[in-house]
Amino acid sequence: MSESAKLSFKGQDYEFPVITGTENESAIDIAKLRASSGLITLDPGYKNTGATTSAITFLDGEEGILRYRGYRIEDLAEKSTFLEVSYLLIYGELPTQAQYENFSKEITHHTLVHEDIKKILEGFPSNAHPMGVLSSLICSLTAFYPDSLNPVRNKEEVDLSIARLIAKMPTFAAWAYKNEMGHPVNYPDNSLDYCSNFLKMMFALPAEKYDVDPVVASALDKLLILHADHEQNCSTSTVRIVGSSQASIYASISAGINALWGPLHGGANQSVIEMLEAIKADGGDAKKYLDKAKDKNDPFRLMGFGHRVYKNFDPRAKIIKKAADDVLEKLGVNDPVLDIAKELEQAALNDQYFIDRQLYPNVDFYSGIIYRALGIPTDMFTVMFALGRLPGWIAQWKEMRENGEPIGRPRQVYTGPNERDYVSMNKR
Ligand code: MLT
Repeated sequence: MSESAKLSFKGQDYEFPVITGTENESAIDIAKLRASSGLITLDPGYKNTGATTSAITFLDGEEGILRYRGYRIEDLAEKSTFLEVSYLLIYGELPTQAQYENFSKEITHHTLVHEDIKKILEGFPSNAHPMGVLSSLICSLTAFYPDSLNPVRNKEEVDLSIARLIAKMPTFAAWAYKNEMGHPVNYPDNSLDYCSNFLKMMFALPAEKYDVDPVVASALDKLLILHADHEQNCSTSTVRIVGSSQASIYASISAGINALWGPLHGGANQSVIEMLEAIKADGGDAKKYLDKAKDKNDPFRLMGFGHRVYKNFDPRAKIIKKAADDVLEKLGVNDPVLDIAKELEQAALNDQYFIDRQLYPNVDFYSGIIYRALGIPTDMFTVMFALGRLPGWIAQWKEMRENGEPIGRPRQVYTGPNERDYVSMNKR
C-alpha cells in the first residue's frame, strides 16, 4: 500500500505521496506542493531534503554503514581494487574478467595528454594551489575534445569521456605537483598499475631511479577506494547540478573539484595536518589544545573529528586507521606531527567530552596522516581526495543524465525590500 503525508495550512488539508527506497528510507514527494498550496519548503544546506533518487551509494549515518552498489565498503577496501570499484560505481556491477581487462586497457590507452596541456600548465605560477590547477586542466579537456560539448551523448562517447577522465586525472594531478615543485613533468608509464604510475609521475626525478614502494601503492589504492563515492555530498551535488544544465562531463567534474576544495569538504584533510603542525610549532602540547577545544570561549576547533552524516563513527575512518597503523609500522615512519595526532586520537576516543559530542576521528583525520606518511605534500591531500572521488562523480553524473533529470533550479524565500521607486542620484 502506498503511503502518504498530510499537511494542514490555513484551514486547508493537502496530501502528498511518500516514496520508500530499497533500504526503507522514506521521503515526501513534494513535486506538487507549490502548485497545490502555494508553499515551498526551506532547508538551508538541504540537510532534510532529497535532491534525487540514486542506486549508487547507500550510507546510514546512525549505523555507520557505507555500501557501493550494495557491496560493503569493508569488503571492497579489503578485496577489490580502485579500478574495479570505479567500474562497479559507474556501470553498476562488478566487472567480469573480460570487462575489467577492456576497461583497464581503455584507461591505459588514454593516460597521455595533449602536449599543448603543458602550455596551460606553464601559465600557472609555482605557488598555484594544485586544486586550482587540476580543475583548470580538467576543464581544458572541453577544448581538446569539443564533441564533449554536444549535450546529446551516445553510450560510446560517454564511455570514451569516462576513460579519458579516469586515465588523465592522475597525470594532471602529478603535473600540478611538479609545477609547484618547479620540476619537469613525468609522462605516464603504462607498464605500471594505476597507483604505481601515479606515484612514479609524482616522485620520479630526472637522472634518478625511482622504484614504487608496493606498500605505499597498496595503501593508496585502498585510500582511493574509500573516497570513491559518498552519495549526495557537496561536490557530488555540484557535479549533478552543473550536469543538469547539459554542461559537458568535463565542465561538471571541474566544478566538483572546485566544490571539494573548500576546507569544510575535501580541504579538511589538509586542515588536519595544518592544525597538527600548528600544535607542534606551539610546543606540541596536545592536552593544551584538547582543553582549548573544550573551552566554548576559545575559537580553536579540532579539525578531522566528527561528521555531518555519521553520528557514531565513519566506517571509512576505521579502515583507514588500520591502514595508517600498518603503513607507519612498515615504513618505520617517525614523525612528531603524527605523534601529536595519536594523542588527539586517543583523547577523542576515550574522553567523555568528545564521546558525548560524537567527535571521533573521521576519514579526513586519518587520510591526512596516511598521506603525510606516504610522502604526499599537504596541499596535494585534497587532490588525492579528488582522485578518489572521480568515479563517484562520474557515476552520479551518468545516472542523472540517463534518468533524464530536469535542470536543478531551487526556489527561495525573498526577504529583501518591497517594491519601491527609483530616486535619481541628486535626490538621494
Ligand atoms: C565525503 O566523503 O564527501 C565527505 O565525508 C563529506 C560528506 O559526505 O558530506
